[in-house]
Amino acid sequence: MIFDAEDRASLLAALAFHVAAGADEAIADGPVDRFAARAMPAPSPQAAVSAAPRTPAAPPPTVSLAPTAVVDAAARSAAASAGTLEELRAALAAFNGCPLKATATNMVFGAGASPAEVMLVGEAPGADEDRQGLPFVGASGKLLDIMLGWIGLDRATNAYISNILPWRPPGNRQPTQAEVAACLPFIERHVALVAPKVVVFLGGTSAKTMLCRADGITRLRGRWYDYRPAGLDRPIPAMATLHPAYLLRQPAMKRQAWRDLLAIRERLDGGG
Ligand code: URA
Repeated sequence: MIFDAEDRASLLAALAFHVAAGADEAIADGPVDRFAARAMPAPSPQAAVSAAPRTPAAPPPTVSLAPTAVVDAAARSAAASAGTLEELRAALAAFNGCPLKATATNMVFGAGASPAEVMLVGEAPGADEDRQGLPFVGASGKLLDIMLGWIGLDRATNAYISNILPWRPPGNRQPTQAEVAACLPFIERHVALVAPKVVVFLGGTSAKTMLCRADGITRLRGRWYDYRPAGLDRPIPAMATLHPAYLLRQPAMKRQAWRDLLAIRERLDGGG
């Protein structure tokens, strides 16, 4: 098919519209017209046999959708068997228990200094992280770097960063509980292997999941917890704070984050 300049402009405008609306991932090989599907009468058994679909049905996801308890056991044993960060990366890459793997471009494992004074745990990669395979490299990552710099931390020397989920949820949607549960053993093991002096949970999803609490981030932030990952013989002091993406939308809340950062600095310096 040959497109002229006008066709190309309207196709690009349609694409831009979809990306702006959050539909920025192709999750099947062929397009599906949901409006046409809804308008069609329910097929009779006869029609179902005779009318072959014009576009072949999308292939089933290559990732298993086993019941959560089964996935959880597989994830736990895969994560527990990793004795180094490289082994954990390989175990995660081989793990097929989270459907997000099928739609993500890259796995985002983690990055930074190891050993690290501080490990930060975010929620899930966004579009920039998914493209580059690295955590917090987009707009919120830039703010995070500035915030870390305020208290003498940076990824090159003393800070390590990862996420609860190593694969991006399509369109940055909220991850489901099953997706989080499937990946949780890996981030728990990740923290145990990095064994930082302090672990910081960024935002509500990370804080609630890692601390096993139902409270919102405004209640959880700014206090110290003992985080006890399996396989580590000591608890790690943990702090929850506001997610940098939230701070970009609500700059007035940086005041609270600043307090949390100062408490983290004090703890690292032997106080708190
Ligand atoms: N937000 C997160 O929680 N993690 C990232 O890596 C990027 C944005």
